[in-house]
Amino acid sequence: MKQFLTALFLLVCIVNSVAQNYDEAKVPAYVLPEIFTTSAGQGVKSRKAWEDVRRPEILKLFEDNIYGQMPKDYDSIRYTLKNEDKAAMNGKARLKDVAVQVFRNKKSIQINLLLFVPNNAKKPSPVFVLINNRGKDNTDPTRKIKSGFWPAEMVIDSGYAVAAFHVSDLAPDNKETYMNGVLQLYPEHLKADNGMRAIGAWAWGASRVMDYFENDKDIDVKNVIVVGHSRGGKASLWAAAQDQRFAVCVTNCSGNTGAALARRQFGERITRINTTFPHWFNNNYKKFNDKENELPVDQHMLIALIAPRPLYATNASKDLWADPTGTFLALKKAEEVYALYGMKSKLPANPPGINVPVPKPPLAYHNREGEHDLTAYDWGNFIKLMRSRP
Ligand code: GCU
Repeated sequence: MKQFLTALFLLVCIVNSVAQNYDEAKVPAYVLPEIFTTSAGQGVKSRKAWEDVRRPEILKLFEDNIYGQMPKDYDSIRYTLKNEDKAAMNGKARLKDVAVQVFRNKKSIQINLLLFVPNNAKKPSPVFVLINNRGKDNTDPTRKIKSGFWPAEMVIDSGYAVAAFHVSDLAPDNKETYMNGVLQLYPEHLKADNGMRAIGAWAWGASRVMDYFENDKDIDVKNVIVVGHSRGGKASLWAAAQDQRFAVCVTNCSGNTGAALARRQFGERITRINTTFPHWFNNNYKKFNDKENELPVDQHMLIALIAPRPLYATNASKDLWADPTGTFLALKKAEEVYALYGMKSKLPANPPGINVPVPKPPLAYHNREGEHDLTAYDWGNFIKLMRSRP
């Protein structure tokens, strides 16, 4: 029986992976929803019409159909410095280990925020904050373990503060237990088809960390860069789309329901993501299983919500699952909103070659050679983007 079940499992895995398209020639013809046409069919031509009418409309479409509502209210928030080391990283940085506690309806959650600030800073430091979806070892506060996923020394040496929190503080990444976190504060969301789910909870956490930064004099709150990889990159996009206090967004290998166009149906598809990770997005999103073309939005519109702030999207050459071409095309389509702000994109007409980064505002992109990952190469380019900002 056990052998039979193992064989069956392997078969299902093979069928599933074969079922995904990796052939450009098989990408169906598709029409993207127009960024500049309102639901009522009106054309949007001015910045004012974009900001007052179309932008809020698109944001609501993403809330209702994909990521869920983003609760803004809570009873109170408390910041506690749990631990501090003024001479961390051999004296280069100050470590702050902060508990961010949020209270609502007599319930609370705690976000454990790690923050290193450069000691030689003469003014408040811009900060990169990572939504960590991988092992906590990647953000070792003692710095005994070093990882390219969060190369804290490199970021500090470049003159930026660097921070991280773990998704499990907000919502465990598990379809059975994801509600044991932020959703305990907002149980009404669990009952709503357009309620928040795990990815929304992680993005909500990024906003609470932003609340903290607004109260930390070491931090330059006008220059907070939210970073996420893969599922964390879906969350960093959503965080920056709905919270305009984030100055810059980095979405690394975020793929389906991240920075890649759904309608291309290349690599991972909506049915698959909703089946494997039913706790990531709201119930309404399930209606679009195998029906990408019926979505009132596509992911270029999520990027458009971040304009005029800089966005950096990346891919890896061996990570076809995340559709590198579909990511590049989503950025290209979003250019028109940046143009409305008088910003000219530096992206080439076609996807740049492997390891040919374009770390230039407002829309930065690269396709790194290698696997699905977040590496020091990627971070080096995020820093270049920051340096080439006007
Ligand atoms: C899976 C999932 C992706 C996700 C990735 C990750 O591959 O299908 O959508 O981005 O995990 O988070 O690493």
